Amino acid sequence: MKLVQEMIRKAFDSLKYAYTPYSHFKVAASLLTEDGKIYTGCNIENAAYSPTNCAERTAVFKAVSEGERHFQAICIVNEDAVGNHDYCPPCGVCRQVLMEFTDPEKFQVILAKSGNEYQVYTLAELLPLGFGPGNL
Ligand code: THU
Repeated sequence: MKLVQEMIRKAFDSLKYAYTPYSHFKVAASLLTEDGKIYTGCNIENAAYSPTNCAERTAVFKAVSEGERHFQAICIVNEDAVGNHDYCPPCGVCRQVLMEFTDPEKFQVILAKSGNEYQVYTLAELLPLGFGPGNL
């Protein structure tokens, strides 16, 4: 199976874990490490709203907390309250978190609507002139 298809499938499989009692907007992500391992994540909402964690950051924090520091790509999928899938671009905070652990010119952000409908961007395209470790 093509790697991108595997990432899309793993992201879709993780939608079932999204905890979204407030927005009913489910998001899931699959994150590919430099050496080919895939970590998944989902959004986790909170009654106080602001502690909500996005799917992308869940995946990054799971991976980093298990020793990973280098990533090649992330795939993001969503399902709305009525079961539709659309392209779901990462929020600004997640773009910033991804910048910390990636080369933005190379890191790929895959937005998928289905197994064969997806768009690919570099992080640099989504976060031009981002502030990263190299700026300190
Ligand atoms: N959300 C994500 O998980 N990732 C994104 O890139 C955009 C937004 C979540 C946060 C919240 O649980 C819900 O989607 C609606 O904003």
